[in-house]
Amino acid sequence: MNAPVDLDHARLAATTPLDRLDPSNPALFRDDVWQPYFARLRREAPVHYCAESMFGPYWSVTKYKDIMQCELAHKVLSSDSLHGGISIRDRDKALRLPMFIAMDPPQHDEQRKVVQPIVAPGNLAKLEATIRERAIRILEGLPRNETFNWVDRVSIELTVAMLATLFDFPQEERRKLSYWSDCATALPMPGGLIENETQREAAFAEMLGAFMTLWNERVNADPRPDLISMLAHGEATRNMTPREFMGNLVLLIVGGNDTTRNSISGGVLFLNENPDEYSKLRANPALIETMVPEIIRYQTPLAHMRRTAIADYQIGGQTIRAGDKVVMWYISGNRDEEAIEQPDRFIIDRARPRGHLSFGFGIHRCVGNRLAELQLKILWEEILQRFPRIEVVGRPERTYSAFVHGITNLPVRIPG
Ligand code: HEM
Repeated sequence: MNAPVDLDHARLAATTPLDRLDPSNPALFRDDVWQPYFARLRREAPVHYCAESMFGPYWSVTKYKDIMQCELAHKVLSSDSLHGGISIRDRDKALRLPMFIAMDPPQHDEQRKVVQPIVAPGNLAKLEATIRERAIRILEGLPRNETFNWVDRVSIELTVAMLATLFDFPQEERRKLSYWSDCATALPMPGGLIENETQREAAFAEMLGAFMTLWNERVNADPRPDLISMLAHGEATRNMTPREFMGNLVLLIVGGNDTTRNSISGGVLFLNENPDEYSKLRANPALIETMVPEIIRYQTPLAHMRRTAIADYQIGGQTIRAGDKVVMWYISGNRDEEAIEQPDRFIIDRARPRGHLSFGFGIHRCVGNRLAELQLKILWEEILQRFPRIEVVGRPERTYSAFVHGITNLPVRIPG
């Protein structure tokens, strides 16, 4: 099913024969019209087989409880890149990068343990002052009464400055981190950021070169609380091959970059789309606490994670065969009316705001969840102290991807 932009998607979603529904079409996310397709799948075929798509055949799991079940079934539903990894798009075997998000136990657990201390509560507390200082500097530099792209000036700036701190990477070169992250997730296409896999590999080689320098500086020095030093000294990671090092760098850069960036942009957009919620927030800034997880639910910065069945697996009355690709659509589970009250509404004072799927669940649940929340919380505290209103003044532009659910351009104006 190819979904042209100008058709009535509610009608198209309702009338396309069920066996031809393909929610993986990246145009549905770019055009922000994915909602009715997933609503129909949740209602009529919660575990659904799509035989033909630009990513080949795959199963969609669209209901909250079924996604949880899949997340817990990691012994049968593998994340390992040898089987296909974590995104719906299959990559050429030779180009697959080893990284612990795309590994199964025991290797996954050993490598995850090495980087976990970066987000331990003590370390987060130490990072708070740095995040606040960066957030203030970025906000103070924003123009008044002038249209600018919030994504570029704030969302990207804050996340890359933060990532540079986590890696202890030179701040003046921080934009390279977002460039490498974008190269990692871009769909190759003519005129796109990358046009083919060779260009992607070239960007990764440049990234590896820069980080090898940092690794070499730190491997023979005393351990320090930055990610490169942790990897260089970690028992499970210090003997990584350069390609494994490259893979884990991509994981940490992409993990900490696109996701937080798109939550920062999403928050401004949702408050503008819901002026009553914006008023509520202005009247009671303490609501930032519950608003932050709601932003992350409502945006769902990663639309899905993929698994591959390594044995037959029964779910929702369907039999998934060994070798089949299974896509857990977090973006749909987060709109499941059986799990979340009024899921299509953005409500900043929900009673249980953290009960969403955006960070996944089970053994791969996001390592950086508290750090991401902390960044958003501090940013909103500082925004509310300065700007009573940030006005969205144009149509947002979105990422052409079924994986990264993002906003590339958000024109805003701050009245002065
Ligand atoms: C894993 C989402 C921020 C690092 C994941 C997963 C999701 C996710 C969906 C996979 C979960 C699964 O398979 O069950 C997000 C979102 C974020 C965010 C929505 C922000 C709003 C961050 C940050 C970092 C980070 C700031 C680190 C600096 C990681 C890592 C993994 C991961 C290392 C792999 C965990 C594993 O395989 O055990 N994240 N993430 N993430 N995330 Fe995040």
